[in-house]
Amino acid sequence: MARSFDTIEWSFDEPSGIGRVVLDRPDSLNALSATLRTEFDEAFAAFRDLDESADGVAVRAVVVSGAGRAFCVGADVDEFAEGTDLTHPEMVYEAASQFAGPVVAEIDGYCLGGGLVLALSCDFRFASERSEFGLPEVDLGIPTVGGGLGALRAAVGPSRAKRLAVTGERFDAERAAADGIVSEALPNEELFERVDSFAETIASKPPLAVRSSLDIVEAYGHEPPAQLERREDQRLRQSEDYREAVAAFREDREPEFDGR
Ligand code: COA
Repeated sequence: MARSFDTIEWSFDEPSGIGRVVLDRPDSLNALSATLRTEFDEAFAAFRDLDESADGVAVRAVVVSGAGRAFCVGADVDEFAEGTDLTHPEMVYEAASQFAGPVVAEIDGYCLGGGLVLALSCDFRFASERSEFGLPEVDLGIPTVGGGLGALRAAVGPSRAKRLAVTGERFDAERAAADGIVSEALPNEELFERVDSFAETIASKPPLAVRSSLDIVEAYGHEPPAQLERREDQRLRQSEDYREAVAAFREDREPEFDGR
């Protein structure tokens, strides 16, 4: 079964109960444009519809991946510059994290900023060795939002989470696995088979027990400090440093920051 979207590929394999969402804007390394965010949300709504119309649970697992050389590079910086409305940027993370069934991130390539937050919003993460991780938001003059820092803190502890957030430094898949950010770093050619077999394994388990287990683990986590994030994000988007960072990115030059 397939549904048609502009910025994602959506499919569902009825016999196995495995759904797939592929972020499909390879020319911008799958940056989270407003359209992509909306369609991602609709994709998960379509999975929910399948569950609701089924006698029992239809969707046993969902795999999220990216087309081309990135999983996702986060927010669409061109839309920042154009001032396109950033209404509810969290919708993409919530679509993944609030879906009742297990969601697996298949990471092959860049996994930066909101892309890393999206991966952390999934229940499981597998990455190819060529993948690269990091939180570049700080260099644009804004914080990482969407619950990403909370999830990162839970994975790596507060000190390393703060370091990654304030330096924006990149790290490889092996380090991400050592940090517990991804469960495995795999040779590039083995990633797809490994994720398929993992998705098949969880799809074969009793779905109510799977969903209940996910809920219980989540209930021990902390709610993201959403209000603080929104306030800080809005405040920093008014700053000169933010405008300078976006302009420098677009003009392909080194930015100069004044702390204003
Ligand atoms: N938003 C919009 N477009 C983006 C993008 C983003 N976040 N990241 C990359 N792109 C676009 C580039 O502008 C480029 O488009 P072009 O071919 O029309 O010029 C294309 O994707 C390929 O990117 P490029 O920079 O040429 O590839 P690269 O391999 O040299 O570098 C990155 C890849 C990811 C390191 C680099 O693109 C980058 O730093 N991107 C910004 C990531 C970011 O800051 N994300 C957080 C936003 S909060």
